[in-house]
Amino acid sequence: MEKSFQRSALLVTLSLFFFSIPVSLSVPFVLFHGFGGECSNDKVSNLTQFLINHSGYPGTCVEIGDGVKDSLFMPLRQQASIACEKIKQMPELSEGYNIVAESQGNLVARGLIEFCDNAPPVINYVSLGGPHAGVAAIPEGCDSAFCILMKAFFAVIYSDFAQDHTAPSGYVKKPMEIKNYLEHSKYLPKLNNERPGEKNSTFKDRFTSLQNLVLIMFQNDTILVPRETSWFGYYPDGASSSTPVLPPQKTKLYTEDWIGLKTLDDAGKVRFISVPGGHIEITEEDLVKYVVPYLQNESLFSSEHETI
Ligand SMILES: *[C@@H]1O[C@H](CO)[C@@H](O)[C@H](O)[C@H]1NC(C)=O
Ligand SMILES: *[C@@H]1O[C@H](CO)[C@@H](O)[C@H](O)[C@H]1NC(C)=O
Ligand SMILES: *[C@@H]1O[C@H](CO)[C@@H](O)[C@H](O)[C@H]1NC(C)=O
Ligand SMILES: *[C@@H]1O[C@H](CO)[C@@H](O)[C@H](O)[C@H]1NC(C)=O
Ligand SMILES: *[C@@H]1O[C@H](CO)[C@@H](O)[C@H](O)[C@H]1NC(C)=O
Repeated sequence: MEKSFQRSALLVTLSLFFFSIPVSLSVPFVLFHGFGGECSNDKVSNLTQFLINHSGYPGTCVEIGDGVKDSLFMPLRQQASIACEKIKQMPELSEGYNIVAESQGNLVARGLIEFCDNAPPVINYVSLGGPHAGVAAIPEGCDSAFCILMKAFFAVIYSDFAQDHTAPSGYVKKPMEIKNYLEHSKYLPKLNNERPGEKNSTFKDRFTSLQNLVLIMFQNDTILVPRETSWFGYYPDGASSSTPVLPPQKTKLYTEDWIGLKTLDDAGKVRFISVPGGHIEITEEDLVKYVVPYLQNESLFSSEHETI
């Protein structure tokens, strides 16, 4: 009896010892692609591989549903919920992980961070051209799948049909229709804690627990209207298309700290980066400069213990 107790105590000690080793060695990252992308396409898999090669850390692109089709037509709340279930089934992430997301994938990533119960912690989060504060208009002179879908649904974007059958409807925010948006958009108002009286402090606490938030905006982005949405900048409520965009620090989301962006910024944990190029046209140089360092942090666990 006593002998077997000793043996199991020894086994527990040994396994703690063994399991603590891989944990402190490498924090993996996961990547979420954007609208019209899929993990297996060349561009996305090259980006994932580039970041693995240059950081020396493991990483993987996490697919939502069947890839391209679901990125167009599956509502974002459902995409975020799939991401949540998938992440919890990846044992290598159980001690924490970093996120890199492209474009619309950022709203999946943020849904994962804010809404996912009993999930492992996200440590650093790097956002490439994310429509964080919404998109206000159909991009000009464009004929990509995104534009076709936007043109088809824009007028009725807050209808249940559009909300339930397209992904971008989850983040269209028409400045002249804020009431309609707050009442009928099924994704962004919740994600950004925008509805008066319905702000959930759990979402804020989770977002605020990031160690680093890197927001990359593309100077020539013509897909996101306005491009400053990548930094949480946006038009003021009621604005017309000629009204200047508010910088992030002047928005209510920031000043009233709805999701903790101000708290993170005050703590020096937010980097607002602007790079040349069109939507998600990031150079290898800029990836190495602004993304790779956030995938390479080894001192995370010791620092976590210090703060407890
Ligand atoms: C992906 O990477 C391969 C080799 O590294 C390269 O030949 C190819 O052109 C890249 N494709 C894209 C779409 O970037
Ligand atoms: C990653 O490294 C491998 C091995 O050196 C190389 O074959 C591959 O082209 C690299 N891919 C990218 C996208 O950097
Ligand atoms: C806030 O969100 C958490 C996590 O999803 C949930 O458990 C809680 O019930 C929500 N609180 C309110 C007041 O809705
Ligand atoms: C940005 O757009 C301007 C005007 O269209 C163009 O002249 C410039 O070359 C573009 N720069 C980059 C880095 O794409
Ligand atoms: C690395 O981790 C430390 C401590 O957790 C943090 O202060 C620092 O900002 C991190 N650096 C990067 C580049 O993520």
